[in-house]
Amino acid sequence: MIYELRVRSFTGTRERSGDFRGLTRRLEYLKRLGADCLWLIPIHPSPLEDDGYDVADYCAVHPDYGTLEDFKAFLAEAHRLGLKVLMDLVLNHTSERHAWFEESRSSKEDPKRDWYVWRKDNTGYSGIGVIFRNKESDNWEWDPRTGEYYWHRFYKTQPDLNFENPEVVEATLDVADFWLGLGVDGFRLDAIHCLYEKEGTSCEHLPETHAYLKKLRRFVDGRHEGKVLLAETVGSTDKIRPYFSGGDECHMAFHFPLAAYLFYGLATEDAGAVRRCFEGFDPLPEDCAWGFMLRNHDDLAIKFLTEEERSVMKRAYAPKPGMVLNDGIRRRLSPLLGDDPSDVRLAHALILSLPGSPVLYYGDEIGMGEDLSLPDRFGLRTPMDWDEAERQERDPASLLSWLRKALSIRKAHPALVRGECRFLDPGNPKVLAFERSLGGRKILAFFNLGRSTERAGTGMTERVSVGDLWTGETRGLDPRVPLPPRSFSWFELPG
Ligand code: NOJ
Repeated sequence: MIYELRVRSFTGTRERSGDFRGLTRRLEYLKRLGADCLWLIPIHPSPLEDDGYDVADYCAVHPDYGTLEDFKAFLAEAHRLGLKVLMDLVLNHTSERHAWFEESRSSKEDPKRDWYVWRKDNTGYSGIGVIFRNKESDNWEWDPRTGEYYWHRFYKTQPDLNFENPEVVEATLDVADFWLGLGVDGFRLDAIHCLYEKEGTSCEHLPETHAYLKKLRRFVDGRHEGKVLLAETVGSTDKIRPYFSGGDECHMAFHFPLAAYLFYGLATEDAGAVRRCFEGFDPLPEDCAWGFMLRNHDDLAIKFLTEEERSVMKRAYAPKPGMVLNDGIRRRLSPLLGDDPSDVRLAHALILSLPGSPVLYYGDEIGMGEDLSLPDRFGLRTPMDWDEAERQERDPASLLSWLRKALSIRKAHPALVRGECRFLDPGNPKVLAFERSLGGRKILAFFNLGRSTERAGTGMTERVSVGDLWTGETRGLDPRVPLPPRSFSWFELPG
């Protein structure tokens, strides 16, 4: 399991930022929970116009979080506990306060002028949508100093780097080299589909971006062993699958549609919505995996759903003003699901059993709430509630204790982690059923997305004896299994 965290919030309060020393002290908690890997959202010096996704210096740590030495001590302790660490690598853009951009905007003759995308007018790449429509109305920004416009896919304080310039490409490889050299285990590649622009295209997912990723991968593999590249590209699976290419680009990519369709399936009691997420793309190359996250630090992406599906989602999950932000729904996991323990557990259990790596957003293990009075996405990034986490660690009936158990069962059964996945037809549209198999071990998984008890066909004609992974008991399984409302079961079939 990959645990996503924001250093500022993890050991901070509303008034004071969390830091690496605090995080280091909390690593045991993450280990006890069952995390294998941490993903830190950006930790670099930044004016924080986009919470650190506006990097002002790639090779340093934001002073609020400590020093590079504190980071190294954190990394050493994480590794001692067997936890890997992924960092966010924000390559598409820098902060306008990055020295590269300050030089670039200083004059048209500056050697770094061409490191960013400058134009005399703002007519280029027309028709490319504005992502942060709550704040921006154009992807071009006028710069009065040199009388030209620069391109930005995100906030105007985040000018896009020009990847057509080989010096930029080299500079980004140097950044990767710096952190991997310190021992970091890999990167989440932020907004990786936006790297290149080309007139007459959507400026997303361009062949040049894939060529760059192959180069980055060769560079990383050539200089460092066993590191991971994880693509962040929001869209339908036909857009995301190419980031694995033939096994020579990213090792992992977030499967954004899964979360959207999982919530859609819960709202409509339609297991097919989840099932269909696994259709329509080539099998992944060896040693590649999807990353499944229910929620993260951004709004829940739904823009790749049909219009009708989007209205279902908004009715079900964004009933109040302010819950929709740009193209997504800004809610945290537990409140999104009405703080219903069965729904929350079912959602976690699904991403723990489907073929890929579960990604857990800090606080979702304790059902943390949201604060929608805060602007933009900050309502989802409030300080970790340690009192609650400590209370739940002591309570065997808590969500935290449940999740610890679920994660430990997953770890004890490699078929659930790496097994082949074969979807079954349980003869009931409200039930998702699949088999995960590895080395002769077979696990049958059932999920009832219905709000009533449902029966699911096992595909077998007679009663068989199975191991119930949750209770550890052996029991008889009828050809049609009864499943309580919003529940799941994991059974091990006899070898
Ligand atoms: C995706 C990140 O998840 C989001 O938080 C950020 O605002 C944009 N990329 C721009 O870096």
